[in-house]
Amino acid sequence: MASYKLLLLPGDGIGPEVAGGMQVVLDALKETGLATFETETDLVGGSALDAHGVPLADATLQHAKDADAILLGAVGGPKWAGVAYENRPEAGLLRLRKELDLFANLRPAICYPALAEASTLKRELVEGLDIMIVRELTGGVYFGEPKEITTLEDGSKRAVDTQVYTTAEIERIAHVAFDLAGKRSGRVASAEKHNVMKSGVLWKEVVTKVHAEHYPGVQLEHILADNCAMQLVRRPKQFDVLVTDNLFGDVLSDIAAMLTGSLGMLPSASLGAVDASGLRSALYEPVHGSAPDIAGQDKANPIAMIGSLAMCLRYSFGLGDAADALDGAITDALAGGARTADIAGEGTNPMGTRAMAAAVADALRARVG
Ligand code: NAD
Ligand code: IPM
Ligand code: MN
Repeated sequence: MASYKLLLLPGDGIGPEVAGGMQVVLDALKETGLATFETETDLVGGSALDAHGVPLADATLQHAKDADAILLGAVGGPKWAGVAYENRPEAGLLRLRKELDLFANLRPAICYPALAEASTLKRELVEGLDIMIVRELTGGVYFGEPKEITTLEDGSKRAVDTQVYTTAEIERIAHVAFDLAGKRSGRVASAEKHNVMKSGVLWKEVVTKVHAEHYPGVQLEHILADNCAMQLVRRPKQFDVLVTDNLFGDVLSDIAAMLTGSLGMLPSASLGAVDASGLRSALYEPVHGSAPDIAGQDKANPIAMIGSLAMCLRYSFGLGDAADALDGAITDALAGGARTADIAGEGTNPMGTRAMAAAVADALRARVG
């Protein structure tokens, strides 16, 4: 069996807790013969700042470049609220995304059958939900220049963030969305605000052209991002693949998370382009953050992290069967009643992070064994 090199970056807050849960599943993957990994662990975010004075050390970036894939927990937290903007924990994650050119962020929102009642939305709206959000991850207002705060003559201040997109950046993310749609139900919705933003005008124009030239079999709908947010809670199952920019994608994916029951359920894959030897950089992480309100209490739901590992098996290593087995194990554990507090109903007795991870690992062994 091939052995792959994984870099684990647990990060801050609940990051190390959910990464610990994932480790239990890695052990089960090895035990069952589904996949074996060599793992190395390093620091990112606030923990790296405390140790090295920067949220991503150059040596860690090199480890990330050398790894076959990266699994990251979460970064940030109130402990680092006062640090310089350039050194905030989130800057470490953004640097990783940019340096590895991880432009394609896939955020699947799936409502597991056992959780149809866990959403704050009515069962019939979310039952069977399966949306793939494709978020552009290395452009837009996150990285555009200038990005600054200047002081005006009267002593007041002026803050600037710049939204920038080029044709090439929009083209490559559009291709990712249309290719994915071809393997799903064949529908793409593209969300922007061409009614207000020049970048939205270009986004719509380029997506339209890529569609017309390469994907006649895929159905394309353009939707304004504000309406999209509303439609996601009004009638979410109208969407299949949803492609959008960096900032809208950040917000729309947190909305989509609640359709599945909890932010603690949503995994993600951040992918680079495939190079000449067929390899691509890839980082897998939950959509949620470091959850300071529950950190250190064994309360966090590890499923987003474990689901991110399943995406890693599928997208980095072509281990579709192992990924299916792991996704199936999550389904089985939930069907068997395993619930962390975020997805437990009122009056139930939720389990902790460790017990949930063990339930998924047991379900995996039961499926394979
Ligand atoms: P958050 O995602 O950390 O938490 C939002 C809410 O969701 C909290 O109530 C939290 O308890 C809950 N939640 C999140 N993950 C959960 C899980 N796995 N199980 C159960 N409940 C969960 O967002 P926030 O509070 O706005 O941000 C906290 C910090 O995390 C900030 O510093 C932010 O920048 C950072 N952040 C990091 C990432 C990342 O590392 N990719 C993503 C989002 C936010
Ligand atoms: C996410 C997070 C990040 C983002 C932060 C932590 C930089 O919210 O991955 O969704 O805004 O992209
Ligand atoms: Mn976010």
